[in-house]
Amino acid sequence: MEPPHNNTSHDTSRHVRQDAPHDASQDARDDTGRDDRRETGLDDRPDTGRPGAERRRPWVVGISGASGTPYAASVLRGLLAAGEAVDLVVSRASRLTLLDETGIAFRDAHWRADLREWLARGADGKPGTFPVTDAELARVRYWAAGDLAAGPSSGSYPVKGMLIVPASTACVAGVALGLSKDLLQRVASVTLKERRRLVVAVRETPLNGPTLKHLVTLDEAGAIVLPASPAFYAGATHIQDLVDFVAGRVLDAAEVPHGLYRRWEGELRGGSKDQEEAPDAP
Ligand SMILES: Cc1cc2nc3c(=O)[nH]c(=O)nc-3n(C[C@H](O)[C@H](O)[C@H](O)COP(=O)(O)O)c2cc1C
Repeated sequence: MEPPHNNTSHDTSRHVRQDAPHDASQDARDDTGRDDRRETGLDDRPDTGRPGAERRRPWVVGISGASGTPYAASVLRGLLAAGEAVDLVVSRASRLTLLDETGIAFRDAHWRADLREWLARGADGKPGTFPVTDAELARVRYWAAGDLAAGPSSGSYPVKGMLIVPASTACVAGVALGLSKDLLQRVASVTLKERRRLVVAVRETPLNGPTLKHLVTLDEAGAIVLPASPAFYAGATHIQDLVDFVAGRVLDAAEVPHGLYRRWEGELRGGSKDQEEAPDAP
C-alpha cells in the first residue's frame, strides 16, 4: 500500500506554499531554499544552545547525482533505526537520479512527504516496503542544496560527520578541489577541515585518471573512500540484499550499529541462502 502523504504534528508544511507543482525542477524557483529552510528546518528543531539542553548531533547525509539512490534510502533508514539524527542535503542533480530510479520528484517545499514515500520503497521500487514512523521522520532536518548559510555549512554547527551516498565523480572532484559549489560540497569541506568522519560512497565505472587522483586526494585528506560495490559473500538473494550490503558498510565506516547484512564469520558456505534452503534435486 502506498504510504499516505499525511501531515504529522512535526510537519511544518503548513507554513509553505501548498500549490507547488510536483516537478523535480521546481526548486529553481529559489536556489537558496531560504524560505523552505526558515519554514521547515527551524521550527521543530531541539534546543542546541540552551544551557542544560541536550545537544543534537546529527549525521549529515549528502545525496549527490550518481546512480544509486536505493543506497541512500537504506543508509537513511539504518541511521534512523539506530536512533541517530540526520541532516539531509539533496543535490540538484540527485533529483534527476531519484526521479529516474524511483519516480519520485523530490521537492524542497514538500520534502517530508517525499522523503516518507521514498524511504518506504524497497530497492525493487515496491511502495510501502519499509514504513517510516513519524518519530523517525521528526529526527530529520532538511537543508536546501542552494542554502550556503545553512547550519552545517559552519564548523561550529554540531554534527558527528558526513556520509555522501551515492557520491558522483563531479562531487568527488568538487570536494577534492574544495570547490564548495553547493551546500553538499561545502559541508564535505567543513567536515574535512574539522577532522570529522567523511564517508564518500563513490559510484561510477570505469574510473578515469582524474577521478582516481581525486579519490587519492580525499583519502589523504582523511575521508573514507567507499566504492558502492556490493559483495556476494553475504548470501544475497535479492537486489535489496546487495543494496543493504553497501549501506551497511557505510554505517560500519560511521560506527553506527545495524543488521543490514550478514557478516563474514570465517566459513565458506558454498552457495546463496536460497541454494542452502532448497531441497535436494531428485
Ligand atoms: C540518470 C543519471 C545517472 C547518473 N549516474 C551517475 C553515476 O553513476 N556516477 C556519476 O559520477 N555521475 C552520474 N550522473 C551524472 C551526475 O548526475 C552529474 O555529473 C552531476 O553533475 C552531478 O552533480 P552533483 O555531484 O552536484 O550531484 C548521472 C546522471 C543521471 C541523469
